[in-house]
Amino acid sequence: MQAWVIGNWKQNPATSDDVDVLLNDLCAAISDIEQVSKDSSARCQLMIAPSLVHLAAVSSRLKATSVLCAGQDVSAHSASTGAYTGECSAQQVVDAGATWTILGHSERRQYHQESNDTLLQKMTHALTQGLGVVFCIGETQAQYDGNQTLTVIDNQLAVVKAFIAEQPELIDSLPTCLIIAYEPVWAIGTGKVPTVTEVSATHQHIKQTLAGFADSLSTMTVLYGGSVNANNANSFAADPMIDGALVGGASLKADSFLTIATAFSQASI
Ligand code: PGA
Repeated sequence: MQAWVIGNWKQNPATSDDVDVLLNDLCAAISDIEQVSKDSSARCQLMIAPSLVHLAAVSSRLKATSVLCAGQDVSAHSASTGAYTGECSAQQVVDAGATWTILGHSERRQYHQESNDTLLQKMTHALTQGLGVVFCIGETQAQYDGNQTLTVIDNQLAVVKAFIAEQPELIDSLPTCLIIAYEPVWAIGTGKVPTVTEVSATHQHIKQTLAGFADSLSTMTVLYGGSVNANNANSFAADPMIDGALVGGASLKADSFLTIATAFSQASI
């Protein structure tokens, strides 16, 4: 199965010059990864989600590579245009060169109070504009401590169920345009990670839940995110339930991103 390694740059880097430096390093690293892929049956699809202000420049630069470009969010209000100051629509994210967008990241849920209703609107706008969606789910530390992980995840996956109910004609296409990223909130940017066994069991639950929504969803890609780095990537990559990684901090250095991508690339052989 093809692995995915996605770099979420969040509100980084600070300047366009810094973006250029990172892109120069990445493009050199990426040509090494593409060489690995050519030399073997390894398959790892790379994707970068820069900040909106850098999206057009990054996507234009990455066009010559196999790396995909993603937004980090889209407007819930309208799929195209409208009087929504500060917002950017799915259509505009596509126009800037992205083919995917992250949705429902815990930082957006936390700082922007994103609810299931809002996320259903965003998912509908993105998918109907032809943008693939990396849909983030995961429990907080208190929910983890209270053994509520699977309940929280089921509640968050209700967005996918509601989307299917509204757009049944799109069900069969979802395995190619919807990716689930399981990111325990307590593991994001903290250096704390769940055990691979815990992640594997949670991914199994996610996959079974999705398959229960529709038969065609039995092949959905489920990524792990939260403090993935060059040192622990191999252990996550070795588990067949973990189809790749959504990487924050370690995606801001080309060498650590390359090491993570290589780990998943080699595990996919
Ligand atoms: P992290 O972030 O890798 O820095 O923990 C992951 C994410 O927020 O997607």
